[in-house]
Amino acid sequence: MPDDIRIPNDLDSFWMPFTPSRAFQEAPRMLHKADGVRYVTVDGAEKFDGTGGLWCCNAGHNHPRIVEAIQRQAADLDFAHTFGQGHPIAFEAAARVVDLAPGMDHVFFTNSGSEAVDTALKIALAYHAARGDGGRRMLVGREKAYHGINFGGLSVGGIGLNKGQFGTLYPSVAHLRHTWLEENHFSRGMPEHGAHLADDLQRLCDLHGGHTIAAVIVEPVSGAGGVFPPPKGYLERLREICDAHGILLIFDEVITGFGRMGTAFAYEAFGVQPDLVTCAKGMTNATVPMGGVLATAAVRDAFRQAPSKMPDLFHGYTYSGHPLASAACIATLEVYRDEDIFGNAARMATPWEDMVHGLADIDGVIDVRNCGIIAAIQLAQQGAVGDAGRAAHAKLWEAGLIVRPIGDALAMSPPLTITQAHVDEIGATLRSVLAA
Ligand SMILES: Cc1ncc(COP(=O)(O)O)c(C=O)c1O
Repeated sequence: MPDDIRIPNDLDSFWMPFTPSRAFQEAPRMLHKADGVRYVTVDGAEKFDGTGGLWCCNAGHNHPRIVEAIQRQAADLDFAHTFGQGHPIAFEAAARVVDLAPGMDHVFFTNSGSEAVDTALKIALAYHAARGDGGRRMLVGREKAYHGINFGGLSVGGIGLNKGQFGTLYPSVAHLRHTWLEENHFSRGMPEHGAHLADDLQRLCDLHGGHTIAAVIVEPVSGAGGVFPPPKGYLERLREICDAHGILLIFDEVITGFGRMGTAFAYEAFGVQPDLVTCAKGMTNATVPMGGVLATAAVRDAFRQAPSKMPDLFHGYTYSGHPLASAACIATLEVYRDEDIFGNAARMATPWEDMVHGLADIDGVIDVRNCGIIAAIQLAQQGAVGDAGRAAHAKLWEAGLIVRPIGDALAMSPPLTITQAHVDEIGATLRSVLAA
């Protein structure tokens, strides 16, 4: 074991997120270092990072240019807030982000995806109020959606287990049905069936009055709920219904943003323009927490009639536009550009698709879903929901591959730097474990 590791003797002080604590403490999985597509555990074992951190290390780990930019910034301006004062690097980061996002002209910085989602929902409500249409209070989400864990995101989110402990949440929400249809199993990329499910939004308009709905939020490719690419025509239909009723369309691109679909944002790949986009994760290659809400000029302009001595949006975080995050963001976007990381994602999407669908013949694999550099392998339930997923995850960890179990699905979102050799390695490990 390398001698510079400090192994903790207290595993209980840290109340861990989304973690079965007792199980973790009995068999702690502890990572120590990372480089490129691999982690090293405290025991010195290498693990292929099949989840790109948590859908976020798009350029791989410990990229020297990003590391250096953060170090330099920490020594220069460690912190300054942005409530009525500024620092140039935050403006530069904003301009660079907006530059990557066709049709988007502004970004409101947050520190996480959850904060980005709650910020976007608040902007949507405030947008309608600013235009004298404040009766629009309803927010629409979708079953199986993950929009983070703050009150707004949980309210529009569609994962029952995440909501169950917390009661009512935001009072005026409705949900579209999810798009995981039996007939779509084993679809390569976007499934053929399910565009009609977007008409659930029209049904909500008929039921509640389209004029009462402020916004609908969807992940263009839903990720943490199990990986569900959008059916062909689905997102276009949502856009049409939103336009017909003056509803804002929010795409939650916390996972899909920054290259995962082979374009900077998924809305570009799918050819559907949202009004607001939430992002985080890949924004700094996950090195320093940062998120954001991208807004069109039309949304931003609604706020401009506020009195000049008052904030036009009563919202913000101490760390909005944090200097270290801004420096990390700029360096990350330069790496994405200079190393053609999004281009690599686009080029590797087909080999990636071929690899995951090549596992369809394994006994117990009942669906395979993929889009861009995301995929999920759905295992047949064995015992309680999640038992098969947990067991496979544990065996894959031992075999040197990290995946994310979501119920009985194994989700994967490796760094966008993957090569054919990496894809082959992931495929071989999956087959050796799942077919055993
Ligand atoms: C689509 C989506 N929205 C929001 C979030 C929340 O992001 P964070 O964990 O940074 O709060 C996530 C996290 O995975 C996500 O996938």
